[in-house]
Amino acid sequence: MWWFGQNGYIFKSPEGTLAGVDLYLTNSCEGLAPGMDLSRRVPVLVEPEDIDIDVFACTHNHQDHTDPETVRRLRNRDTTHFVGPHPTCAVYAAEGIESGRIAPAWPDCELEFGDLRLRGAFALPTDDTDLNHMGFVIQFGGGPRIYMTGDTDYSDLLASAAKHRPDVVITCINGGFNNLSHFEAAELVGKIRPKAAIPCHYDMFPDNSADPRQFRASLGLKAPGVRYQELRHGEPFVFSSD
Ligand SMILES: [Fe+2]
Repeated sequence: MWWFGQNGYIFKSPEGTLAGVDLYLTNSCEGLAPGMDLSRRVPVLVEPEDIDIDVFACTHNHQDHTDPETVRRLRNRDTTHFVGPHPTCAVYAAEGIESGRIAPAWPDCELEFGDLRLRGAFALPTDDTDLNHMGFVIQFGGGPRIYMTGDTDYSDLLASAAKHRPDVVITCINGGFNNLSHFEAAELVGKIRPKAAIPCHYDMFPDNSADPRQFRASLGLKAPGVRYQELRHGEPFVFSSD
């Protein structure tokens, strides 16, 4: 997997299926909220025109997750499958993606693309501008499963993702704007008991950032035995269950 900042990742399966999730590869959020600094801090490590993936998925319709400009400029927008909850699908359609390649997703749905199985997971809204948040559990061939929380307020129901026995949890930790805090994220990880936990959504915007070391500390308290795994932007990370 590769991290591109915020909740943006590209995953590669054993057979080479490529899935992007919440790829935010522009600076389109800058100026969205008057009085807030939402200019991107993480450089654009790959331009949308250079992205060639099999699946383009989004967890919800906030612009740091479903970015119309990224969709518009995608290199293979005429061949990839576009996945997300209905408000995200409306953005895909508005950007000219043909309906046959848009796959609506919802908590507990199940979709397959090559050797990649994508399941929806529960998530709570964080404000009333989008009431259709979700997470994803992605399985790669017969191999590892990754649970991504997406943006979500805390709920005990988040731990229902444990039924998929994910090996890795990728969780937001920023705490701002009703998202999971580092402490809530660690509590959730403690209930799911994956092998490793990766923090995200703390790095992109000056006015919505957090220190991942707080999550590492909380993880030690709430989920002892779960490996803390911090990714570096753009550097490949190969999950090993060892
Ligand atoms: Fe977000």
